[in-house]
Amino acid sequence: MLESRDFVSDRLNRVEGSATLKYSNRAKEMKAQGENVIEFTLGEPDFPTPKNICDAAAEAMYAGETHYSAGPGLADLREAIAEKLQKDNAIDAEASSIILTPGAKQALFMLMQSTINDGDEVILFDPCWVSYDACVRMAGGIPVYVPTDPTDGFRPVNPESYITPKTKMIVFNSPCNPTGAVYDESVLREIADVAVDHNLLVLADEIYEKIIYGKKHISIGSLDGMAERTVTLNGFSKAYAMTGWRLGYMHIPEPSVFKALSKIQSHSVGNVTTFIQYGAIEALRGPQDDLAAMTKEFKERRNILIDGLNKIGFRCPMPDGAFYAFPDVSEFGNGEEVTTKLLNEAKVAVVPGFGFGKSGENYVRFSYATSVDKIREALERMEKIF
Ligand SMILES: Cc1ncc(COP(=O)(O)O)c(C=O)c1O
Repeated sequence: MLESRDFVSDRLNRVEGSATLKYSNRAKEMKAQGENVIEFTLGEPDFPTPKNICDAAAEAMYAGETHYSAGPGLADLREAIAEKLQKDNAIDAEASSIILTPGAKQALFMLMQSTINDGDEVILFDPCWVSYDACVRMAGGIPVYVPTDPTDGFRPVNPESYITPKTKMIVFNSPCNPTGAVYDESVLREIADVAVDHNLLVLADEIYEKIIYGKKHISIGSLDGMAERTVTLNGFSKAYAMTGWRLGYMHIPEPSVFKALSKIQSHSVGNVTTFIQYGAIEALRGPQDDLAAMTKEFKERRNILIDGLNKIGFRCPMPDGAFYAFPDVSEFGNGEEVTTKLLNEAKVAVVPGFGFGKSGENYVRFSYATSVDKIREALERMEKIF
């Protein structure tokens, strides 16, 4: 170990490690020691990637698609994404404004690097996904948290009052990780009005749009006045169970931002792996039956889990999307205490809510990307200790 000099940059010293990974790693260690741990920690569908998608990528690889591709991605894939955004999201997308990235996470990182100066403020809704805060800080920005109301579908409370002359962007995520909230048009309109009135960019993270139970997903970029200022972020990880492929994308209508981000891509990633992009074309243009089956299965799990949690006394409204439950566990302690008790006494691994923002202190997050049998067993174990 080197001494007497701090080799770590200030930028990185400002960033916390991922709370999600910390707890899933602890669960994995226990499993490695032979403990029968049931995991609800990671945001990863437990289904295989559909075969038609794997076949398309494998065929491309064997056909020699193993070299660099264009920096923003294959023309055909960008076209397929533009069509999807037009059809599913009512976004007037052009293929030339789309960039493929190694996961939506990297897209988020690059967007912050491209747009945020030291001291710029970025509005986040509390609670929210862990990486927004980190990516804002790594870019030198300041995350500003707007509280949400858990009794009103986690609706942001008075977002406009948090805007200052330094605010540059609002990050909006629906369906939401960690709450599973799916926001309706009145919430979107309120946020859109704030963005228009204060000339802000909006990052719309729509990665869970397909994992939705009955409600309609609306893209904020489709609202009046929002076409140019909305960067729409999406990817293949969740809808097509392709987490390990690392493939996300962004639609960036503002040409200056697209150009800046392309610079980062060209000097860092280069391009996303060429042959996997053929799998992505198949994902978008091929049959969608696996997606429908997966969502149906998630819905069943959700119903069993939420019902069971409420019976135990973990207060949890029915989430409308994603595959997360975010119960209030304050009856039994704070989120971290309950997480520790669950892991030690029931061998059930969850993530404490504080990792998703201050408001999450009395919450824990369950990712129900695990089988119905395991959910039932976990609930039985939990009933014994609470
Ligand atoms: C809200 C949200 N956005 C983006 C991502 C990133 O997904 P990926 O990098 O796998 O495309 C995740 C992953 O957990 C997420 O929960």
